[in-house]
Amino acid sequence: MSAMVIDGKAAAAQVLEQVSAEVAQLNQAGVQPALAVILVGQDPASEVYVRNKVLRAGECGIRSLEHRLPASTGEAELLGLIHSLNRDPGVHGILLQLPLPAHIEETRALQAISPAKDVDGFHAENVGGLHQGRDVLTPCTPTGCLHLLHQALGELRGKHAVVIGRSNIVGKPMAALLLEADCSVTVLHSRSRDAAELCRQADIVVAAVGRPCMVDASWLKPGAVVVDVGINRIEEHGRSRLVGDVDFASASAVAGAITPVPGGVGPMTIAFLMHNTVRAARQQSRAPKEAACLSIS
Ligand code: GUN
Repeated sequence: MSAMVIDGKAAAAQVLEQVSAEVAQLNQAGVQPALAVILVGQDPASEVYVRNKVLRAGECGIRSLEHRLPASTGEAELLGLIHSLNRDPGVHGILLQLPLPAHIEETRALQAISPAKDVDGFHAENVGGLHQGRDVLTPCTPTGCLHLLHQALGELRGKHAVVIGRSNIVGKPMAALLLEADCSVTVLHSRSRDAAELCRQADIVVAAVGRPCMVDASWLKPGAVVVDVGINRIEEHGRSRLVGDVDFASASAVAGAITPVPGGVGPMTIAFLMHNTVRAARQQSRAPKEAACLSIS
């Protein structure tokens, strides 16, 4: 069997087209959606991600405000910037690029962002809301994965989904979103026993562990739909290339459908960041008083 390759670029382009149309509608109502992006330090991967986020925002008509701070920035200064962005009615979304330098407490910084402007869905209010089944801003990468799964499979109800990885950014919210979609969910992690055997029972596999080519054909039930969140740079024959957490060549001989790396999940993350920004702008322009209240911390 040869798996259908799920085209994340095409799916992201569709989402971004819809986002652009919503931006135009908001413009007509006098609202200019705006996203503030904060980068502390000069992590090379974060630099690339931030550049792409700002570029994509511009393409769909979202104003972006870049705040690049030196790695030596103190936590109080960062929190001061976040509080001022919370109070600014012209800013609808705030993205704090991770990882942060070690001297800044990540949770404290993320908790400082107003839940109404938390386009990453990392604030405890939004994390809790997701687990309660409330309609809140949800993390961009797992939301993008869910979108791809709906495109590939339609209804997800009753499917057995295995999520490999338990990070706050992908694994945990992915499991919560799949549960909300009425899947039976198993989360595998570094301490799981018989991981490959458990994975072989899955209709859906989402791999988000950061280990190159860990999942191969021997981990998969024939016909399983595989979403690969991993982006790992490896050296091979003296050349560097990007691979996922799934061994694509091996897995695609058994899977029913599979996302490639690159061109699978990656473009969806940015598309859903734009989607969340427009959603936040819409909600804040409907309820400006409520948004202002939430921003006071
Ligand atoms: N670093 C890696 N992924 C992400 C993400 O989705 N959001 C933020 N803010 N930082 C990240």
